[in-house]
Amino acid sequence: MIKKNIRPTAIALALSVSSAFASECDPGEVVAKLSHVTGGTTHPKVVAANALADRVNKEMNGKLCIEVFPSSTLFGDSKELEALLLGDVQILAPSLSKFGSYTRKYGVFDLPFMFKDMDAAIRFTNSDAGKDLLNAMNNVGFVGLGYWMSGMKYFSANKALALPTDAKGLKFRVQSSDVAKAMIAAMGGSPQPMAFKEVYGALQTGVVDGQENTWSNIYTKKFFEVQDSVTETSHQLLAYLFMTSSEFLDGLTPEVRAQFLKIANEVTQTANQNVKAKELSNRANILKSGGKINVLTAEQRAKWVEAMKPVWKKFENDIGAELIKTAAGA
Ligand code: LMR
Repeated sequence: MIKKNIRPTAIALALSVSSAFASECDPGEVVAKLSHVTGGTTHPKVVAANALADRVNKEMNGKLCIEVFPSSTLFGDSKELEALLLGDVQILAPSLSKFGSYTRKYGVFDLPFMFKDMDAAIRFTNSDAGKDLLNAMNNVGFVGLGYWMSGMKYFSANKALALPTDAKGLKFRVQSSDVAKAMIAAMGGSPQPMAFKEVYGALQTGVVDGQENTWSNIYTKKFFEVQDSVTETSHQLLAYLFMTSSEFLDGLTPEVRAQFLKIANEVTQTANQNVKAKELSNRANILKSGGKINVLTAEQRAKWVEAMKPVWKKFENDIGAELIKTAAGA
C-alpha cells in the first residue's frame, strides 16, 4: 500500500479522523480531500477513489496529495456538495441522483429502464451530449471530471417482488431524486428519501420496507441481511459524478492541473472497465453469504417496464425530449 493512500485501518480508525488522515501528506503539498459514502474493499467507488489517490500520491509526490475519507466519515450525502462549495473538501463522487437542487438534467440517468446495461450508459456518457452534461453545474462552481459507473440497480424488500404491484403499500428508501420518487409512486409504494448511511438501520428497524441499489452496495453495506430478498430488476443505473470545484481546479498551477486531469481521466477509464466484474463478484458474495436473489421472467420484466413508462413523460420537460432520445438510443 502506498504510504499516503488513506485506508480505514484499525489504527487509523482508533485515532480521530482529522489527525489520522491529515498527517499523511507532506508539508508544502497541495492537499485534496476526497470524501465519499461507500465502504468495503470491493466497491467500485472505493476502488476508483483509492486508485486515484495511489496514482496522484505516487506520480505527483511533493505537488499534490489526495486523502480519501470513505463511508461518510468526513461528509455524508446531505452535506458534501455544500462542503465542496465551501472548500472543506475538494473531490467528491456523489450519485447522479443527488443533484436535483442544482440541475434537473441528470434526471436522464434516473429514468427507469433507460439503459439496457452499463455498456449503453458508458456509450451515452462518451457521446457529445453525455460529455456536455459534465458541465451542467459550472455556473454553481462544480466541475465534472468524469463519470464513474457503479452498476445497475435492483429492488430489495421484506418480501419477494415478482411484479411491480407486489410493491403496493411498501415504503422504499430512495436517494434525493424526484425521478426515483415518481418511480416508487408508479409502483404504488411510498418513497422515503434518506441519506445512504442511514439505510441499513432503517431497513433493520422497519422504518422502510425496501430499497434499490447495486450488488456492491447491497453486499458491502449488508442490506441483504435485513431484507427478505433482492429482485434482479436492473431498473436503473447507479453512476457517480467524479467532481471537483472550479475554485480548487483554478487554484492549481497549469502544470499540476494538467497532470491531475490526465491521471483523473485515466483512472476513470480503468475504473469503468472493471465495474462489471466487481458487480458480478458482489452478486456472488451475496449468495455465498446467504442472501436471496429473485430472477424475473421475461413476462414479469415486461410488467415492470410497462408500470414505469409514465415516469418518462412526467420528466420530459425538465430533462429535455432531445436528451432523453439521445440517451435511449445509446
Ligand atoms: C445511495 O445513496 O444509495 C448511493 O448513491 C450510494 C453510493 O454512493 O453508491
